Amino acid sequence: MVLPSDADASGRRFGDEELANLRAVLDSGTLNCTRGTFVTRLENDFAARYAGDGFFCTAVTSGTAAIHCAIAALDLEIGDEVVTTSVTDMGAITPILFQGAVPVFADIGAKTFNVSAQSIEAVLTSRTKAVVATHLFGVPCDIDAISDLCQKRGLYLIEDAAQAPYATFDGRRMGTFGDIGCFSLQQGKHFSCGEGGLTLTKNPDFARRMRLFHDKAWGYGDAKPDHYFAAPNYRMTELAGAVALAQLDRVEGVVRDRQNSANAFLDKIADFPGVYSQLVPEKATSVFWKVTLRIEPAEAGADVAQIGARLKEQYGIACAPRYVQKPAFECEVLRDKRTLGSSGWPIRDAVWPTRETLPGTYDALAHMLVLPWNENYTREHVDYISTSLRSTLDFFRS
Ligand SMILES: Cc1ncc(COP(=O)(O)O)c(C=O)c1O
Repeated sequence: MVLPSDADASGRRFGDEELANLRAVLDSGTLNCTRGTFVTRLENDFAARYAGDGFFCTAVTSGTAAIHCAIAALDLEIGDEVVTTSVTDMGAITPILFQGAVPVFADIGAKTFNVSAQSIEAVLTSRTKAVVATHLFGVPCDIDAISDLCQKRGLYLIEDAAQAPYATFDGRRMGTFGDIGCFSLQQGKHFSCGEGGLTLTKNPDFARRMRLFHDKAWGYGDAKPDHYFAAPNYRMTELAGAVALAQLDRVEGVVRDRQNSANAFLDKIADFPGVYSQLVPEKATSVFWKVTLRIEPAEAGADVAQIGARLKEQYGIACAPRYVQKPAFECEVLRDKRTLGSSGWPIRDAVWPTRETLPGTYDALAHMLVLPWNENYTREHVDYISTSLRSTLDFFRS
């Protein structure tokens, strides 16, 4: 069976509304957002519909750009520390370097796969200025406790909701708890325009700084505009905005369909030996960017690599054992401090964690099996994935 994939039309929902918006952009002849209307509508609609009154959104060219805007909004000093997770997309980490700050890695839970208030607190120093809390795979962190910690210690909180738009904690959407929320509209996310990102904040100062930062820090609309500080061009095109705006009408249906099929799947595999689903905090709902399992080899009869290989080879299920394979600080960019020339700046003196200091991270990666999930999965697809997993376990246990 061929499963719908977010890499092509089988697993994406683009239709007449996207086409009509694209047509309108092309007919207008205005493809840039500084003069067009679609990106502005996307920003206003997303802020109002997702978060409510008082929130501001700036649309940018990627999730990485959104994180970069968020870090830049904090106006950190060189060498300030930003606590984050090492089990994430590199695009969530390099913006910290670009702004001259040092990423510090908090441990993740071996079963939650997310950072916690305790693991963040354990790595705070006098240089810590901010925390980036990533809601991995669509499962919220315990954001209440993390918010409390940040408030108590005077730290900024950025939520990386790239994988968790519309996920909730205590009925409230992720990305609205911290000082700034960041989202990705890349091909494989819940709603997409190929590449894109969104920032969200209710702090007018951060909103202003992110708006400036995404456009060369030029003070559009100011009495005496100038380029106020060093900043890139992360403006979204009207073509991307046109698609993203139409996607806003679809995304809640996408989330609902993913939740229904994923919950049905998790029910089916509830008693599979050695197979456990990612732990979701009691007050939270997941939006299942992926369905991520923890495999206990002693019970399952095989480890994630063996199970993943068989699921792929025998059943064509494109799963990812160990997700990103290794913690971010083991990737060349951080391990070898490849930043600006041979300076190692700003991480020249950084000492990265080890297996001993981040046991949850290594434990989680060694046991993590990431299954692709999609809004277009039918009951047959769900049955296929669960029976394939069952047969795989039977194969190794026999
Ligand atoms: C958690 C997380 N943060 C940030 C990013 C970066 O987003 P983008 O690929 O749109 O730059 C991603 C992308 O996959 C992500 O999953």
